Amino acid sequence: MRRKLIAGNWKMNAPRDARTIVDAVAAEILGRDHVGVVICPPYPLIPLLVGRGVRIGAQNCHHEASGAHTGDVSAEMLAAFGVTHVIVGHSERRNDHLETDLMTQAKVRAAHRADITAILCVGESAADREMERAEEIVAAQLRTALAANTTSANTIIAYEPVWAIGTGEAATPDEIADMHAMIRDEIAVALGASVSEKMRILYGGSMNRSNAEEILSIEDVDGGLVGGASLSADDFLAIVDAV
Ligand code: PGA
Repeated sequence: MRRKLIAGNWKMNAPRDARTIVDAVAAEILGRDHVGVVICPPYPLIPLLVGRGVRIGAQNCHHEASGAHTGDVSAEMLAAFGVTHVIVGHSERRNDHLETDLMTQAKVRAAHRADITAILCVGESAADREMERAEEIVAAQLRTALAANTTSANTIIAYEPVWAIGTGEAATPDEIADMHAMIRDEIAVALGASVSEKMRILYGGSMNRSNAEEILSIEDVDGGLVGGASLSADDFLAIVDAV
């Protein structure tokens, strides 16, 4: 059985009540073994939120451990601050910073080197889906980004169709089921069946309190990567409760 994970991605938002949100989530998940939770705030909030009973992740890292990289933060630094997970390859990084699959692979390796879990995002654009190339695009992203030492312990996949992110329009259960099955097959080809069976594959893109239960009950969906709805303790906990 793969334990489900609900990951919150706060993006470039710093809620004034950040600590209250994290404390409310911590109180609620205490003693719940069937679901894991991680919250990924912007970098400056990390030291404020670590150690309060919820695992804290980051939204990006540089692929090098240190050096002349103005404005960047390494996976080693994140680990030193108590971070357990790092999102890599999010479509907003790919769009805003022109990050490629190869750069994403280097970040996956960096996370592994620093002993933190990579949450590797893949997903097609609306144009890719219209051209019926969604599976091909996602498979190609995966093939490049999956580093050879990837295991189900050091990596989590997040399928996030770009057109569903922040739009209020989640993918349909059929679209999600088909893509998650394809992703699991690709992982089996790349890393073997035993890694693939245990690998967690999250869905992300307009997951909210109304659609979470249906999405989380789809076979091969092992949790969610939640943006907008993770900025409210009530909404986020409703999704955690849906597990
Ligand atoms: P959303 O974002 O839940 O606001 O659609 C998801 C994500 O980008 O991780």
